[in-house]
Amino acid sequence: MMDAARPFGRTGWKVSEIGFGAWAIGGSWGEVSESDARDALFAALEAGTTFIDTADVYGDGRSERIIREVLREWRGPRPIVATKAGRRLAPHVAEGYSRENLAAFVDRSRANLGVDTLDLVQLHCPPTGVYYRPEVFEALDGLVAAGKIRHYGVSVEKVEEALKAIEYPGVASVQIIYNLFRQRPQELFFREAQARQVGVIVRVPLASGLLTGKLRRDSRFAADDHRHFNRHGEAFDVGETFAGVPYEVAIDAVEELRALVPRDTTMAAFALRWILMADAVSVVIPGAKNRSQALANAMAGDLPPLSVETMRAARSSCAMCWAASNHFPECNRPAPL
Ligand SMILES: NC(=O)c1ccc[n+]([C@@H]2O[C@H](COP(=O)([O-])OP(=O)(O)OC[C@H]3O[C@@H](n4cnc5c(N)ncnc54)[C@H](OP(=O)(O)O)[C@@H]3O)[C@@H](O)[C@H]2O)c1
Repeated sequence: MMDAARPFGRTGWKVSEIGFGAWAIGGSWGEVSESDARDALFAALEAGTTFIDTADVYGDGRSERIIREVLREWRGPRPIVATKAGRRLAPHVAEGYSRENLAAFVDRSRANLGVDTLDLVQLHCPPTGVYYRPEVFEALDGLVAAGKIRHYGVSVEKVEEALKAIEYPGVASVQIIYNLFRQRPQELFFREAQARQVGVIVRVPLASGLLTGKLRRDSRFAADDHRHFNRHGEAFDVGETFAGVPYEVAIDAVEELRALVPRDTTMAAFALRWILMADAVSVVIPGAKNRSQALANAMAGDLPPLSVETMRAARSSCAMCWAASNHFPECNRPAPL
């Protein structure tokens, strides 16, 4: 049972260190049955998770609707539910982030989630130009004033976008990729986020499953799993699949990491604990497709802190990934310990 909670920026919320990433229970990860999806979410809630991350496009609303159904039955503490908007735009261009479109996306998520007021809406990895359009953030302020959303934030691809976004005083949170293979956020961005009391949500913490240690060189994925169809960024940003690290390189790094995982601990829990070593992180949101994954991930919050020696060794085991990354090489450089 997790009991550690962290403040979520300046919202006044306290959230569990381990949240629940609800992409896989929506779609794009191969078949996940409705009953497995519900079990996974219930298991996370029972283990003490109080933060759920979803998006309007995950299974075209399936993820949001499953969350609504589960929370209707859930009798425990109400979790914070963060959703995202913007990716329904086709074409996905900065001009699409208009007041009218944002209001329509928010109304659809309110209906899907069955609430009057959304806890947190994040712009869903918008084109970089959006961060230079103050009117987008004014539109979000308007939705807060109208009582349709409590807070808003951004989900970003690049550290530079994160740094620009937090210049807007209304931005309550930033969601960013940060894991053993992607360490750059711990430099300037984490410092700035802490200074401005911005909540930091860490996504893709297991590098799409690689950092569980279960994947092999010859692992195969279903045709409707992004690890098959977005291997080289064919459908969306390559960073969202295996954190943008070439598969073979990452498999070698995982082999090196095995020696660092304490006995009685899974590599997944180790990888999540590594992320929680950063104080700037408010919540890490591993995805889970079933009850056992959700429970295993929730347990990571109970592990003791990692030693300085382990942190150092983990850094050197992953150095080859930073060098080989397909995803903005500058995003993967580690900070000095
Ligand atoms: N643009 C964005 O804003 C964006 C993009 C990506 C993700 N996200 C958010 O971040 C969340 C997390 O990222 P992610 O789901 O992409 O990747 P992730 O958390 O790195 O990996 C999740 C996958 O790893 C496997 N897994 C999870 N726990 C496991 C365990 N304990 N043991 C063995 N395997 C396990 C599962 O897939 P298999 O069992 O099939 O291997 C699961 O779907 C998402 O759910 C979503 O909420 C947001």
